[in-house]
Amino acid sequence: MSKILITSALPYINGVPHLGHMVGCLLPSDVYARFMRMSGHDVLYIAGTDEHGTTSEVGALKEGISVEEYCDKYYARHVKTYEDFELSFDCFGRTSSEENKEVTYHIFEKLDENGFIEERTIKQVYSVDDGRFLADRYITGTCPYCGYDKARGDQCENCTKVLDPTELINPRSTISGSGNLEVRETKHLFLNLPKIEKRLSEWVASKEPYWPDVAYSIAKKWLKEGLQERCITRDLKWGFPVNKPGYEDKVFYVWFDAPIGYIGITKQWADQKPDERNWKEWWLDAKDVRYVEFMGKDNVPFHAIFFPAMLLGTGENWTFVDYLKGMSYLTFEGGKFSKSEHRGIFADKAVEEFPADYWRYWLMSNAPEASDSSFTFDSFAGMVNKDLNGVLGNFVSRVLKMTASKFGKEVPAGGEMTPLEKELAVNLQEKVNNYLKYMENMEIRKAMNELRSIWVDGNNYISAAEPWTVIKEDRERAAAILRVCINLIRIFAILSAPIMPKISEIMFSRLGLSSADMPGLKGFNVCQELQFLQPGHGFEPGDPLFERITPERLEELKLKYGSQEHK
Ligand code: 2FM
Ligand code: ZN
Repeated sequence: MSKILITSALPYINGVPHLGHMVGCLLPSDVYARFMRMSGHDVLYIAGTDEHGTTSEVGALKEGISVEEYCDKYYARHVKTYEDFELSFDCFGRTSSEENKEVTYHIFEKLDENGFIEERTIKQVYSVDDGRFLADRYITGTCPYCGYDKARGDQCENCTKVLDPTELINPRSTISGSGNLEVRETKHLFLNLPKIEKRLSEWVASKEPYWPDVAYSIAKKWLKEGLQERCITRDLKWGFPVNKPGYEDKVFYVWFDAPIGYIGITKQWADQKPDERNWKEWWLDAKDVRYVEFMGKDNVPFHAIFFPAMLLGTGENWTFVDYLKGMSYLTFEGGKFSKSEHRGIFADKAVEEFPADYWRYWLMSNAPEASDSSFTFDSFAGMVNKDLNGVLGNFVSRVLKMTASKFGKEVPAGGEMTPLEKELAVNLQEKVNNYLKYMENMEIRKAMNELRSIWVDGNNYISAAEPWTVIKEDRERAAAILRVCINLIRIFAILSAPIMPKISEIMFSRLGLSSADMPGLKGFNVCQELQFLQPGHGFEPGDPLFERITPERLEELKLKYGSQEHK
């Protein structure tokens, strides 16, 4: 057993996550955490809300509530949505916590002591009427290149030119609309990345054999272009006040304390369990911890470059990321998810339409690993109807109903394994081994293909063995076939558990088993498992496991969630 630390990128507090957020980090990290727990490892799975920054201040302002109230409100929504999605965090915390403040202060002090913090005076746009400095993206004006009148201070959405806010014609505050803007000088703290660059490059180079190509190439690209000093403070109210004399009225930049949030949230978790665990055993001078991070690829530079640089600069022995799974993007029917344009399905609505496991199954089967993938309702309905209903659900109800009607609601006695079952066991063992290997390597799509193929083998077995025909001549043989099939249901439930935890639980309960009966995956032996449930063990056929999506329902969904073809 080894210790596996798993983190998912911390979702921004504002707004509700859509399916793209779910598939980009939260869901794959959950599947991996569940899988590693079932494989017998000591897992700590951490995530939480990323709460600081201008976006929260502006969001609170719009809703007419304090920023604390705003964050509390949306934190509760995040928690509810992730519970509904069956995400099995050990702790889902918050970057604004006292624990995170303590760790942030400590890391900053060490960086400062070690000479990696510089003071600089910069020029920034100040909105007199809003009484605040404006982040570049909170300044709107006319683009000097294309004339678009709603260009943002950091970039023009229309012609994609990267802008400096001072270039905008007729600039105004996005928050209040006021044009009463001034350029003012303000003092800030910078992290001297060039000073850490050499050590960072060596560390990144040591990761080449272990990191997936996507992550490694992004990190190399940043290093090749050369690192610049990065401003780590902001003129805002909402954030951790900077713990350095002369900077008390500034706060740390959200991207400074967000990654530290992984550590702060571990501390939140440990503080809830004071007698049991210590956050340091995972993070500081920790022994034998393998650290795996999940994130969208836009986050890779922060986790492959900036966060490790911050930790290196402390001179302390922190846990550094061992494997960094960077995911590509999920589009909605080929376009962008957009809350304001009512396009796309958001996580809270998704679970109102169908149980979480339907989404979990589709999202993992289509995970944007090597390249982007597109969610379409046609594909979703196709997979629910074909794979879940047609293959898995149908097998379970067919087997349990047939057995109940011919033999009663108990695993039937009689007959024994023949070469057909031995062949089935050999084939399945190979697929199970592949499935376990792919899951361990986080090759999600490949793992899903194996899982599906394992279910298909069950269907092929029952079609070839034909218990419904055999029973007319040889009742004992039919009993042996159905006994194998019932045991296959248990095997399917076990292997599906990391992906579809609720369905797996339901399958177990049909077989008179509970989650306490869930075995580990280590050394999973198909031949033994095919004989696990013995004659006389009771079961309940129950209702169909999955709901079919009718063509009418499919049309309704497309209309409701703004699929392109209906716009
Ligand atoms: O991109 C995002 O959604 C950020 N909120 C991720 C922060 S991850 C953290 F650990 F830095
Ligand atoms: Zn433009």
